[in-house]
Amino acid sequence: SHLSENKRDFEGKKFLITAGPTYENIDPVRFIGNHSSGKMGFDLAREAAKRGAEVILISGPSSQRVDDKNIRIYRVSSAQEMFDEVFKHYENTDVAIMSAAVADYTPKVKATEKIKKNENELVIELVKNKDILRTMGEHKTHQFLVGFALETQNEEENAKMKLKKKNLDMIVLNSLRDEGAGFANDTNKIKIFTPTEEQTFSLKSKEEVAEDILNFIQAKL
Ligand code: CTP
Ligand code: CA
Repeated sequence: SHLSENKRDFEGKKFLITAGPTYENIDPVRFIGNHSSGKMGFDLAREAAKRGAEVILISGPSSQRVDDKNIRIYRVSSAQEMFDEVFKHYENTDVAIMSAAVADYTPKVKATEKIKKNENELVIELVKNKDILRTMGEHKTHQFLVGFALETQNEEENAKMKLKKKNLDMIVLNSLRDEGAGFANDTNKIKIFTPTEEQTFSLKSKEEVAEDILNFIQAKL
């Protein structure tokens, strides 16, 4: 990777990258979340910035940090907050990469006081969140739009369906099947689909995966 140290092939390009999980509040002290660490999105942001891009990074709760003058970070919590932040920047974006693990559902009612236990079972009603990426696809003008897919079954078929349904230019399939791949790990095994091609990559560190993804995007721009 030292070969790419001085590569400035994204100079002048504006990236919008999302990262991490979202937290959907149940009450003031509890939430529904997921195991996303944010590392994949932060590594994409660091690598794009290193190569000259101007990066807007919108992250859900994550312990990841960045320190690069080419990265502006916005920290959000819920899927709704991420939606709102994304659409403040979307129009002025050349490449959008949605690597965040956005919650599909959120509690219909967020209790204002801590929920007390009682003799009964507790039922929490969940309503569907807006699909940020699908909405981006619907409003796409000039942006190169990249999604991620996390699947545990019919992986390729589902990834290709998402590519089409969300009007994406490219989708990155994250394999959870292989040991050490995906989500809370520092390594990842991916497969990339565009409407006309596909390419399989081996198990690598997320830094190297970020490089592979950005090289693939660069060749498409
Ligand atoms: N995504 C999004 N907004 C949501 C849900 C997902 O922008 N409310 C994005 C993710 O960031 C990812 C892509 O959509 O880039 C695919 O997410 P995934 O969870 O794999 O797919 P879903 O469409 O949510 O379908 P399902 O979870 O049922 O497989
Ligand atoms: Ca989902």
